[in-house]
Amino acid sequence: MSKLETLNDLFLGELRDLYHAEQQLLKALPEMEAAAHSAELKIAFNEHRLQTETHVQRLETIFEILNVPAKGKTCKAMKGLIAEAKEHIKEKAASAVKDASLIAAAQRVEHYEIAGYGTARTFAATLGYTQAEELLQQTLNEEGAADHRLTHLAQGLNLEAMVAADGFQERG
Ligand SMILES: [Fe+2]
Ligand SMILES: [Fe+2]
Repeated sequence: MSKLETLNDLFLGELRDLYHAEQQLLKALPEMEAAAHSAELKIAFNEHRLQTETHVQRLETIFEILNVPAKGKTCKAMKGLIAEAKEHIKEKAASAVKDASLIAAAQRVEHYEIAGYGTARTFAATLGYTQAEELLQQTLNEEGAADHRLTHLAQGLNLEAMVAADGFQERG
């Protein structure tokens, strides 16, 4: 097996990991949306779910380009990140605190995806899969934008969460 084939295998492995990661996220996002209190955060989760459907489709297009079956490989990292998100979903907390905890979980997910897509994009570029590289870059940009949006929402919500926490202390 040549070196290039090895990188090709690694690239496929990354794609399969991302494919399973996105599918898990697709199931979790509606639960996060339902658990969120802020209307803006609900919208952000809902819009990212729609984007995530596109991310799944883009990966399927790439599998097609590469002429391999669209098949996932268990992504343990996303499983863990979602398990943590679910802990936050179940937690009893003041609404702004709860939203802040959901954002914290969601941003971990986005950063994981950003790392995965960045790597896969670079592999695609190295291997000369130009169309795959472009598709992966598009998703990477959207993950980055989703992360920034969450940061922006968190800045407002964290202030509210602090006030809510003070309220809890006062009622002590
Ligand atoms: Fe995604
Ligand atoms: Fe994402």
